Amino acid sequence: MSFQIQPPSPGQPNRCQLFGPGSRPAIFEKMAASKADVINLDLEDSVSPDDKTEARQNVIKALNEIDWGSKTVSVRINGLDTEFWYRDVVDLLEKSGDRIDQIMIPKAGNASDIYAVDALVTSVEQAMNRKKPINFEVIIETAAGLSHVNEIAAASPRMRAMSLGAADYAASMGMQTTGIGGTQGGYYMLDNANNKLVADPWHAPVVAIVAACRTHGLLPVDGPFGDFSDDAGFTAQAQRCATLGMVGKWAIHPKQVALANAVFTPSDAQLTEAREIIAAMETATKSGQGAAVYKGRLIDIASIKQAEVIVKQAALIGQ
Ligand code: COA
Ligand code: MG
Repeated sequence: MSFQIQPPSPGQPNRCQLFGPGSRPAIFEKMAASKADVINLDLEDSVSPDDKTEARQNVIKALNEIDWGSKTVSVRINGLDTEFWYRDVVDLLEKSGDRIDQIMIPKAGNASDIYAVDALVTSVEQAMNRKKPINFEVIIETAAGLSHVNEIAAASPRMRAMSLGAADYAASMGMQTTGIGGTQGGYYMLDNANNKLVADPWHAPVVAIVAACRTHGLLPVDGPFGDFSDDAGFTAQAQRCATLGMVGKWAIHPKQVALANAVFTPSDAQLTEAREIIAAMETATKSGQGAAVYKGRLIDIASIKQAEVIVKQAALIGQ
C-alpha cells in the first residue's frame, strides 16, 4: 500500500450530465426541469461557427436568469485550438453571476492546456472579485489526452471530473467507426466454434480515465451515446462503465437521463447487500476475525471498502 492515501472524490452527485447546444435557448428551461445532476451548456461542437457569439450570449443570459435548482451547472467552452475559447472564458466570468459552477475543457491534450485555462480564469476571477472559484472538468477525447491522462488529472486544484468523448476519441485514434459509443461491429473475437464474441472497444480509455480520476480525487464519467433510439445499447454501455468505476454518463437527449440515473443509482438490493456486508464484518471484527462468510462467500476488510462505495454513493444522492 502506498504511503499516500487515495483522495476522496468530490462530494457532488454526477449520475447524468445533460447537454444542450448554447444556440438552442428554447430547451434551457427543459434542461433545468430535468432530473440530470449536471447541466452542460455547450458552446463547442454542437454550435456552428457562425452562431458562437449568439450562443455565448444565450448561455450567459440563462446562467443569470434560469433557476437551475441544486444542479451542478457547467459550460463547455471551445477548444484551445480555436479563436473562440478565450472570449468564452472572459465573457462567462465577467458577465455571469455565481450560478456557473464549472467550465468543461474539451480535447484536453496535456497539463499545459489546463494550466493555460487556469491562468486566464484566475486572472478574470481576481479582476472581477469573484468569490466562488470556478471548477474544471475535461474531456479526454484525443490520442494526446489519453497519453497524458494522469498529468491532466493532476493539472489544477480546480479539477473535478473527466469524461470520455467517444466521437472525437475515435477520430483522433483513427478508429474504423462512425458510431458514438457502444458496440462496434468490427471489434470481436471468434471462439473455437467461430462464434463472434463482441468486445468493448472503449474499455482501455475508460479504465485509464477511472485510474487517473481515482488517483487524483476526480469523478470519472462516460461521455455521449449517439444513437438515442437505442435504450438497451445506452444502458449496456452505462452499465459497463459503472462496473468499471465510473460515476455517471452524459445524456445528449432528455430520454437518456432516466436511463443514466437508473444505472448510476444503487438499487435497493445493492444497498441492502452492502449494509449487510458491513454489519457482518462488524460482527466478525468484534469476535477477532478479519474474514467471514456472507451468503456462502468470503468477505474481509476489503469487502467493507467495496460496500462503502455503494453506501456512500447512495448517501450522496440522498437515498
Ligand atoms: N435537453 C432538454 N430537452 C431537450 C433536449 C435537450 N438536450 N433536446 C431536445 N429536447 C426536448 C425538445 O425540445 C422536445 O421538447 P417538447 O416535447 O417540449 O417539444 C423533446 O425534448 C423531444 O425532443 P426531440 O424532438 O426528440 O429531439 P430534437 O430533434 O428536438 O433534438 C437533438 C435532438 C439530438 C438534436 C437534441 O436533443 C440535442 O441538441 N441534444 C444535445 C446535443 C449536444 O449538446 N451535443 C453536444 C455534446 S455531444
Ligand atoms: Mg468532442
